[in-house]
Amino acid sequence: MRTERLIAPSLLSADFGHLADAIQSVDNADWLHIDVMDGMFVPNISYGQPVLKCIRKFTGKPLDVHLMIMQPERYIESFKEAGADILTVHYEACTHLNRTIHTIRETGMKSGVALNPATPICLLEDIITDVDMVLIMSVNPGFGGQKFIENTYRKISQLKDMMIRRNACCHIEIDGGVNTENASRLFDAGATVLVAGNAVFKSADPASTIDELRSEKPVEFIA
Ligand code: DX5
Ligand code: ZN
Repeated sequence: MRTERLIAPSLLSADFGHLADAIQSVDNADWLHIDVMDGMFVPNISYGQPVLKCIRKFTGKPLDVHLMIMQPERYIESFKEAGADILTVHYEACTHLNRTIHTIRETGMKSGVALNPATPICLLEDIITDVDMVLIMSVNPGFGGQKFIENTYRKISQLKDMMIRRNACCHIEIDGGVNTENASRLFDAGATVLVAGNAVFKSADPASTIDELRSEKPVEFIA
C-alpha cells in the first residue's frame, strides 16, 4: 500500500487570466490537476490541449490531467504531446476501458480511472491491477466549489480492500469538496492524492493552505 500525502491543486478554480501567477502561487504543491470538460460528459466546458501546452512551459511539476470527456481514447496521443504526465479517464465514458488504459501506458504516461459518485468500486475488479491511479469523485463532476459527499470514505475503504486482495498498488486520488476540515481524515482513510480547487485558490494564502491540507492534524485531547 502507498502512504504518500500528495496535494494536487485544481487550476479550474484559478484566475484563467493569470494562470502563470496561479501556478507560481502553488509552488509547494506536488502535482497540478487539470480538469478537461467537453460539455457532453459533464455540463461544463473548460480547456484542452492548447492551454495544457502553455501550462507545461511554466512548470516542471507532474501534470495530472482529468478527462471528463466522452470517448477519451480519441485524444490520448494529443494530451501526451501537450505535456500530460498522468492521464485519467472516466469509467463511465469508455466502452473499451482496458484498451484505453493500456494505450495511455504505451505512450509513457501514468494511467488513471475515475469513478462518478454513483459508480461502485466493485466495477474496478478487472482493471485494478492495470491502473496507476483510481480517482474517486467526491462530488458530481463538472464544477468546482461543490459539497463533499460523505459516502467517499466508504468507497476508499472498499477500494483498499480490493487492492489488498488483488495485490494492486495504485494511487487513490480524491477529487471534489476537499478542504482543510476533511483532508486529514481522507489521508488517514487511505487516500494518497487530494485534489483541491476552491480550498486552495480561493484562500488568502494558497501555499500555506497546501501545507495545512498535507499536514497531519494533531488529535485533539478531549478531557
Ligand atoms: C470537478 C473537478 C474537480 C474540481 C475540484 O468536476 O474534477 O477537480 O475542480 O474543485 P473543488 O476542490 O473546488 O471541489
Ligand atoms: Zn478533477
